[in-house]
Order: sequence, then structure tokens, then C-alpha cells
Amino acid sequence: MTKHNNMPENPEPFWRELIDLPSFSKLKDSLKVDVGIVGGGITGITTAYLLAKENINVALLDSNVILNGTTGHTTAKVTAQHGLIYDEFISHFGLEKTQLYYQANMDAKKFIKQTIDQYNLKCDYKEENAFLYTNSDDYLLKLEHEQKAYDKVKIPHETKTNIPLDIPIKSALVMPNQGQFHPLKYLKQLVDESVSNGVQFYENTAAIDVEYNKHPTIITRDGYRVTCRYVIEASHYPFYDGQGFYPTRLKPERSYIIGIKTDKSYPGGMYINAESPTRSIRSTPIDDENLWLIAGENHRTGQGKSTIDHYVALQNFAEKQFGVKDFIYRWSAQDLTTLDKLPYIGPVTKGQDSVLVATGYRKWGMTNGTIAAQILADSILEKENPYKNLYTPARFQGDPSVKKFAQFNTNVAKSLIKGKLDDTKENINNLDIDEATITRVNGERTGVYKDKNAELHLVDTTCTHLRCEVAWNSGERTWDCPCHGSRFSYTGEVIEGPAKEPLEKRSLND
Ligand code: FES
Repeated sequence: MTKHNNMPENPEPFWRELIDLPSFSKLKDSLKVDVGIVGGGITGITTAYLLAKENINVALLDSNVILNGTTGHTTAKVTAQHGLIYDEFISHFGLEKTQLYYQANMDAKKFIKQTIDQYNLKCDYKEENAFLYTNSDDYLLKLEHEQKAYDKVKIPHETKTNIPLDIPIKSALVMPNQGQFHPLKYLKQLVDESVSNGVQFYENTAAIDVEYNKHPTIITRDGYRVTCRYVIEASHYPFYDGQGFYPTRLKPERSYIIGIKTDKSYPGGMYINAESPTRSIRSTPIDDENLWLIAGENHRTGQGKSTIDHYVALQNFAEKQFGVKDFIYRWSAQDLTTLDKLPYIGPVTKGQDSVLVATGYRKWGMTNGTIAAQILADSILEKENPYKNLYTPARFQGDPSVKKFAQFNTNVAKSLIKGKLDDTKENINNLDIDEATITRVNGERTGVYKDKNAELHLVDTTCTHLRCEVAWNSGERTWDCPCHGSRFSYTGEVIEGPAKEPLEKRSLND
């Protein structure tokens, strides 16, 4: 594993520091409510906020603490510029649907801004120009096609051959007046408003299933039942599949963010390149200075090089382009991408209209999560929503994208194959502090991590979801599953679904 001296030891997002979030107790009894929401990120909280304003009785459950999933680990750009996407969407869906996608994201930005104004919120919201740039000859034509797509969709834009940020580029496409904010300062207000309007929040309450009778009922790991008129799955990966085959329709990816200070002054703007590896850049205020956030290095969960090396790559980029005075934060995020890159928002499957799902935002959860909340709240309130049909998960039923379906499953199958492993404890004896290995212990494939106190933590490396083999994530000290993105702590606890059960613990004496 690559070691790096100046890197913060633990991955902690800036957003969760210096903010006093409310905490909530576990669910300790069964409940009846109008709407049960699972997941306390931007989607779940915004939906709860919207419904509670309309006097709907809501309970929100989070398996961990609220705002500690992808919403707590985002770059928090509030924009309709989502990389190279509009040209692709016009080819796949036609102009009308592509215009709807743009409009939906701009409406979400407007909703966020109006909410900020309404409560006079101090959440570091700032309008910024968004730059999609390339420094690669191979991408000049793609950027040109994207610019033509902006023309067709009627997206206000400019093209530039230089940008305010001092990095080499060949061309850039600018979407003016986009936004950025501190997502948790914003969402804390929505939580407070929701609590005032009667929403019941429960933390450390894992939902593991839905029983679908006359009324859907959420079943929690502790055996309590939340009986509702509607269930909303805002848990990132849907914890209840309803035979919607979500494992074959969602691709999990990880990406990395570093927070640095430099001697340069930040020139304003939000940036993302078109080519790989991704470099996404913005700033946010910290101690009367700017914290530069540099993100990218996405890869499929559980695959690729040692994850700590992704942080090193971002650090090297920052050092070369801007000079790093202080390397203060590092964290990572998991995002889910759908087969056609459009989120799934709506009934989990045809015929189960009372279980609603919202997932697959790629990396654009601030606007897409807000759109999801509006669509889901409108369905429950029986109001029209112009974006409902665009995002419906039912668009694939009966017509799965066969090629991609096969590709996903090949990946899954590969991960099921258990490689040859030495049956040796030498491997374990050679482990350094803060290192992990996969070996065979007493004939069983076992993941072993040696912590800072030289204590060993042994787990069965078979993922408890559909039995793929997990891989070590050195950057976050977790076991990550390449098949559908479940993640487990080094002691085996579930950090991220779809797995619901922990990895089985092992011991050297088993
Ligand atoms: Fe599905 Fe591991 S097998 S997440």
C-alpha cells in the first residue's frame, strides 16, 4: 500500500465537521404512519419536509445516523451540468425528454434557492459558472457535440478556450449561474422544519424488508413494524427489491475528494473535465479562506488499484497545478448509475404503487435528489408532476437493456469466482499495522485486517447479499463488494447495502 505522509489519517468529510446535527433515538416500538421513509439523505429529508408541510404523518428511519451517506460525502454542486450527457441523452431519449431532464434539474436548483431565501439560510450558497472543459484532443469533438446539444436543448452557454482556473485546457463549455452550497447546513434546516411539523426521525434503525399486504409494512432488523400507506425507499440502494431486479440495473462506483489549502486565491467557478480520470473542482469557505475541493478518480466499487492511491493521484494533481499548503480533508463517496444514466424515481415495480424508490443519481444527487422528493411527494399528494414519466423505473420492465444486462452480470460472475489462496498464516504474520490481506484460515477464505494496536480482525469474505467476494478498500479501511456495492467495516458491520447482514466474523482458532 502506498503511504503518504501529509494525508489526513482518517477519511472524514468536511461537511460533517463543525456542524451540530440533531440526533434521534432508535425505533423501539411498532408504528402506524401515512408514509414511512427509509434513508436520511437529501431525498428522504426533502420528501419528509414536503409531506409534513401538507399535514402528512411521516416517520423517517436511517440505518445509521442521518446525513452520513452519499449526501454527507458529495461535492454539493447544484447544477444541471452533469459532464458529457446532453448529446448522449438526445441520442437515447430524443430532444423532448432531454429538455425535460434539463428543466427538472434547473427547477431543483430553483427550489433549493427559494428554500434558502425563505428561511434566510446561511449555507454558503453561491451562484457560480459551471465549466465543462477538456485538455485532450480526443475530446474536442465530443465537447463540440455537447455544445450543439446545448443549442438544441436551449441551454444558455458559452464556449471558451481559457478559464479562470490556472490549468491547461483546450476548450470549455460554460453553463452560467449554477450553484453550490454546504449541503448539511441546508438540510439541517429541513430536518428542523420537519421535526416542527411532526416528522418522527429514528436513527440506527435498519429496515430490512417490506411486507406487501393491504398496506405496506416496513420490517426493521429489531423486528418492529412500520405500517404505512406508502413506503419511500430513499436508502441509496433499494433495501426492498420487489422483484425489480435492481442488482442488474444499478452500477456502484466510488470516487474520492480531497480538501486542501493553497497559496493561490480561488478564482471562482465550478469545474469538471470531460475526459478520464475525472477532475472536479470547487471551493468552499473555511476560516475566512477557501478550501479547495478536488474530486475524481471514480472506479467500480471493489475493483482496481489500492484505493489509497486514488487520494495520492488527486494530491499529486493538486500539487502540480496549484501547490498544496495544507492537506486537510479526504473522503470518498459511493454513487449508483442506472442502465441509461437516468435516475429511477417512482414505484419500485409495476403493481406495487405504494412502494416508491429513488436511486441512481450518478454523481448529481443534489438536484436529482430534490427532483425525486418533489416527484414522490406529488405522487402521494395526488398532484401532477411534469417529470414523473421521465424518471419512472418501469421504463425498463419487459425491455431490459440486454447488452448492458449481460455486461453487468459478467462482472458479477467474475467476482463470484474464488481465486486460489495459500493456506498459510505466514501471510498474516507478515501484515504491517493498518494492512489487510485475504488468506485461508483453517481452510476458509478469510479477510484479515491488522489495526493500529496490532489487533487482528478476521471476517468471512463472502458478501452476505448474493455471495460475491469482497475486496479490501485501503483508503476507507472497509471490505467492498464489486457486485452491487455493499460495504462492510473491517469488523464486518454493514456500512452500505444492498447487504443487510454483517460479514461473518472468524477467529484464528475456529
Ligand atoms: Fe451483491 Fe455483494 S453480492 S453486494
